[in-house]
Amino acid sequence: MNIAMLGSGFIGRFYAESIQGQRSKDSIVSVYSRREESAKKFADDYQCSQWTTNMEEAIANPDVEMVCIALPNNKHEEAVLLCCKHKKAVITTKPLGRNAEEAKRMLIAVEEAGIFNGYLEDLVYTPKFIKAIESVKSGALGRILWAKSRETHPGPHSDWFWDIEQAGGGCILDLGCHCVEITRSYIGKDIKPVEVMCWADTQVKPIDAEDHGIALIKYENGSIAQFEVSWTFRGGLDLRDEVMGTEGTIWINSFLRTGFEMFTTGKGADYVAEKAESNSGWLFPVGDEVNELGYNHMFMDMFSSLEKGVDPRETFYDGYVVNAILDAAYKSAKTKLWEPVKLDIWRGQEGLSKPSNYAEYDADYYLVKEEMTHYGTKKLILKNKATGKIEERIID
Ligand SMILES: NC(=O)c1ccc[n+]([C@@H]2O[C@H](COP(=O)([O-])OP(=O)(O)OC[C@H]3O[C@@H](n4cnc5c(N)ncnc54)[C@H](O)[C@@H]3O)[C@@H](O)[C@H]2O)c1
Repeated sequence: MNIAMLGSGFIGRFYAESIQGQRSKDSIVSVYSRREESAKKFADDYQCSQWTTNMEEAIANPDVEMVCIALPNNKHEEAVLLCCKHKKAVITTKPLGRNAEEAKRMLIAVEEAGIFNGYLEDLVYTPKFIKAIESVKSGALGRILWAKSRETHPGPHSDWFWDIEQAGGGCILDLGCHCVEITRSYIGKDIKPVEVMCWADTQVKPIDAEDHGIALIKYENGSIAQFEVSWTFRGGLDLRDEVMGTEGTIWINSFLRTGFEMFTTGKGADYVAEKAESNSGWLFPVGDEVNELGYNHMFMDMFSSLEKGVDPRETFYDGYVVNAILDAAYKSAKTKLWEPVKLDIWRGQEGLSKPSNYAEYDADYYLVKEEMTHYGTKKLILKNKATGKIEERIID
């Protein structure tokens, strides 16, 4: 695959490491960056035949088969519309838009232009997530009741993130977009998110946006999602999921404490892992960061899907749904009420209700719980269907 990379910053370089890593047959043939020196440096580092400070020139390059958008949030739409104009397949980093209106315009534009579109939500491609979602889909956890995802770190690295106009929001948009798509995937992407309750505050940083947020997202089938995000967490990058179902539980720690622990007095290399706050003492490095963060599997899905003529796992539509949920979160943080998720475009199931959880014991009783005690007797807690009375039965 021949790619044009728009943006040569933090994520553009992570993407490049993934796309051209190992013995990849994919290459970045063109790079656009605002400043000549950054464009040139990126082109040198990744052997791109073209570098330019003109976005349209990179997209229009006849060798380019797919455009990868790695620009600040307020530049995504402009780049997407140029891809539509030149009928180029497009993949864009998260969040798709600064809000659902912007995301919807991009979704409609790519679909009307008939171009391939992928949403680069890397955290649903991490090795642990891939294994976890397989287990969820095979029914190992039963019906998913609650899915929680947490992403917290000490704050982003570039000025524009901290400017609400360019970024569109604070940590809720920046990190909540990951958590929403992770939890939505566990619950089922065809299950409609209906309403959101959110708390947000600016506890530490001198900014207009929030630096903390916690939210609950109710789904039409009764499942609940939860996200916890912060730009002021101390100690590195904390990425964790918890999933609870009627038959099981999954806990994932994707980054901070993954079983790799190292002590150093501080001699040697400076870089430990993304957003690590220290390079001495006890450290928690990450084995293969590009892979652990899902980039390899994500690009593999994007490129193979384009070649096969099918949709990738994550499309602009998913990015739009995520933005719609986050819009409701922002509204709720202001009104302090459950706010409905406004989805003008919805392609999943409609009209679901909460299924019954009741386990049958026999014709007359539901089983509430069964437990073997430490003193050797088995206890059954039953509910009489006719009277509603809760009863205990001991089986020696
Ligand atoms: N895990 C992830 O998926 C992940 C991680 C980090 C960032 N991102 C996303 O990637 C995008 C870029 O973030 P980043 O961390 O690489 O930022 P960055 O500041 O490191 O890089 C941004 C790039 O865009 C260029 N740029 C900045 N302002 C511009 C403007 N006004 N016009 C044109 N180009 C401009 C910069 O020169 C740079 O090349 C954002 O949408 C961000 O949310 C995703």
